[in-house]
Amino acid sequence: MRIPYAEIPGFHAPRVEGHKGELIRGTLGGREILALSGRFHMYEGHDAKVAAFPVRVVHALGAKVLFVSNAAGGVRRTFNAGDLMIIEDHINLMFRNPLIGALENGDTRFPDMSAPYSPRLIALLKECSSATGVPLASGVYAGLLGPTYETPAEVRMLERLGADATGMSTVPETIVAAAIGMEVAGVSLITNQAAGISPVPLSHADVVAVGNAAATRFADLVTEFVRRLG
Ligand code: HPA
Repeated sequence: MRIPYAEIPGFHAPRVEGHKGELIRGTLGGREILALSGRFHMYEGHDAKVAAFPVRVVHALGAKVLFVSNAAGGVRRTFNAGDLMIIEDHINLMFRNPLIGALENGDTRFPDMSAPYSPRLIALLKECSSATGVPLASGVYAGLLGPTYETPAEVRMLERLGADATGMSTVPETIVAAAIGMEVAGVSLITNQAAGISPVPLSHADVVAVGNAAATRFADLVTEFVRRLG
């Protein structure tokens, strides 16, 4: 079953190429899943709370594990377009937090963030990598607001701060998941070397093309991951 975001209260239609805007219910790897095809980003003018709202909805519908994915620029100098990176941790450089405001029913006021990406699921992803032959690196994702890509100086700063990849999403969703007790796993597709490392200017068309080229590998990995979830 596919439900357009426009028909779901509190959802917004994504306006970015590569983001379809459908909540899909189906089966994958022998399990029932909900898939959020596309997100609405903070750079589209949405509050962090709004960007993370779909996580609350899938949780209310029964999901206990959240798998997040994104396109990201490679800050680690050895990363190339097409590499996949397990998100081991993140740095919130969006300077926004989806939990600001009145406490939602069932939320933790001061969520622990010592392991926002579940160590159990990180280990499971590594097993899936061996089983499928899809290579996976691991590292730290820095979330920035966008919509500009970073400057070379910002990328050097991110490198010094300990980031391996940079992108414009995911952090709000992971924070909400932590506050409501969902287990999170995440994988970034490195669609380009970050600015200043890349010898060419960055473009969304290249990001989408690398995303499309990685689709089969990514799907194999996610299917194996769902199959192996306990
Ligand atoms: N920077 C930020 N977001 C991105 C990038 C990048 O280089 N590539 C894809 N999303």
